[in-house]
Amino acid sequence: MGILKIVVLISGRGSNLQAIINKCNKKSTPAKIIAVISNNAKASGLKLKGKFDKIAIDNKLNKKEFETELQKNLKKLSPNLICLAGFMKVLSPYIIKRWKNKIINIHPSLLPSFKGLDTHKRVLSEGVKVSGCTIHFVDRSLDGGPIIAQAATIVNKNITAENLMKKILKIEHKLYPEVVHLFAKKKITIKSNKVFIKDEKELNAFIKSI
Ligand code: GAR
Repeated sequence: MGILKIVVLISGRGSNLQAIINKCNKKSTPAKIIAVISNNAKASGLKLKGKFDKIAIDNKLNKKEFETELQKNLKKLSPNLICLAGFMKVLSPYIIKRWKNKIINIHPSLLPSFKGLDTHKRVLSEGVKVSGCTIHFVDRSLDGGPIIAQAATIVNKNITAENLMKKILKIEHKLYPEVVHLFAKKKITIKSNKVFIKDEKELNAFIKSI
């Protein structure tokens, strides 16, 4: 089985990136991060250790210039999978159509609910009882596209947005690497906007155990 070449796009902290790095460092996961690209040169995620290129694309560029630069880099790197991990820029069809079914994203809510920013605050103000995170293929819409995996957690009464963020982030750190692992094992496919997972029962058992 060939090695899955991954490019991770980040904007900040990079804790999901770290979780993916850890997974790729395991022999059992035939995947390799070949580059991390950020729209923020100061992103602390760019300081994480690993044998991959670290590329910052000037955030002051306008959208078209930014994406032309991004595409230039992606074309050179030729990844099999592009993981958005806290990448806070919305990609336009220019990128999406060139990398169709190769870009995935993690969002800290149970999509399609609570797309966009300030997720946890909005979850709490709506009095929602269950939240979680979602990994999905990226289409042209904001935080939209066919869902690959979700993990849920109870929203405890009186929890703060900060603590809910921390609780869900811990779940993200387990779910994202597992999904990357399944891609590396060629267990995830998409046809006509429908996601198929080989041995889905195993993934469901894993999610239950989180
Ligand atoms: C994560 O919680 C991720 O789900 C969220 O940003 C955070 C990044 O944290 N992504 C989005 O909200 C995308 N719409 P990290 O930089 O520590 O991985």
